[in-house]
Amino acid sequence: MSDSDFSMRTLRDINELRATLREHRLNGQRIALVPTMGNLHAGHLALVAEARQQADIVVSSLFVNPMQFGPGEDLDAYPRTFEADQTKLTEAGCHILFAPTVSALYPNGLTAQTRVHVPEVGEGLCGGSRPGHFDGVSTVVSMLFNLVQPDVACFGEKDYQQLAVIRKLVADLHMPIEIIGVPIVRADDGLALSSRNGYLSEQERATAPSLYTTLCTLRDALAQGESAEQVLQRGKIALYDAGFTPDYLELRDTHLGPVTDATRHAVLLAAAKLGPARLIDNLSVQLPCAATD
Ligand code: PAF
Repeated sequence: MSDSDFSMRTLRDINELRATLREHRLNGQRIALVPTMGNLHAGHLALVAEARQQADIVVSSLFVNPMQFGPGEDLDAYPRTFEADQTKLTEAGCHILFAPTVSALYPNGLTAQTRVHVPEVGEGLCGGSRPGHFDGVSTVVSMLFNLVQPDVACFGEKDYQQLAVIRKLVADLHMPIEIIGVPIVRADDGLALSSRNGYLSEQERATAPSLYTTLCTLRDALAQGESAEQVLQRGKIALYDAGFTPDYLELRDTHLGPVTDATRHAVLLAAAKLGPARLIDNLSVQLPCAATD
């Protein structure tokens, strides 16, 4: 498909999606998937841009997945901006928007639905504070992978644990899909772009970049060889002082295992509540020799 005959198709029906993609596959075209829950921002559009580099046909899904929201979470409040999302995807060069209804993906309801559980890497961090969240993500992503059968799929590195869960899911289930992690897109003041930033008041939005600046300060201290325990303790206090309620602040190895004396490449991960929003962020850290205690 050349840019001159480009127009994005919006499909809601599973059979229509399958029939359309079958044609592209028969034409020998490589297919990329960008799963989203909509309310698209520049972070999502970076995923689409990467997908365009990777494949001939870019499919983006837009589905606010009820299975990955826990009781009391923001399923009902989650921003739904379908027309604006359609426009952004068209302008970004997405070829197919798949936007199924809840009853199309879960015809027998959530309770009766077969679920996919990815052990170990989905435990702790966001998996600890949002029980069942990654089962919901793994289930819907598996379903989208089955429906689209992409050659490649792009996910943001902001959701670091989600990316690790999806990499393990694909490896464990022998799915022939290349998973690409796309770097975090930040606002000029450092705040990682997120649909949930829209929940912040003007004052909270002014405070929000402190999550990133705190992580930067901690990263530098860790890189200088300061004790991880002390640095993390200081980081939690700094987040409280800035007005956050930290959910977790942890240093893990890049596979989300524990950091040992031998670890050189680590990741600093944080989740913190600010007003009505739960924000997450992460930074990679290069540890010097014997930086842990
Ligand atoms: O990252 C998200 O937006 C969602 O968790 C995903 C991957 C689209 C699954 O619903």
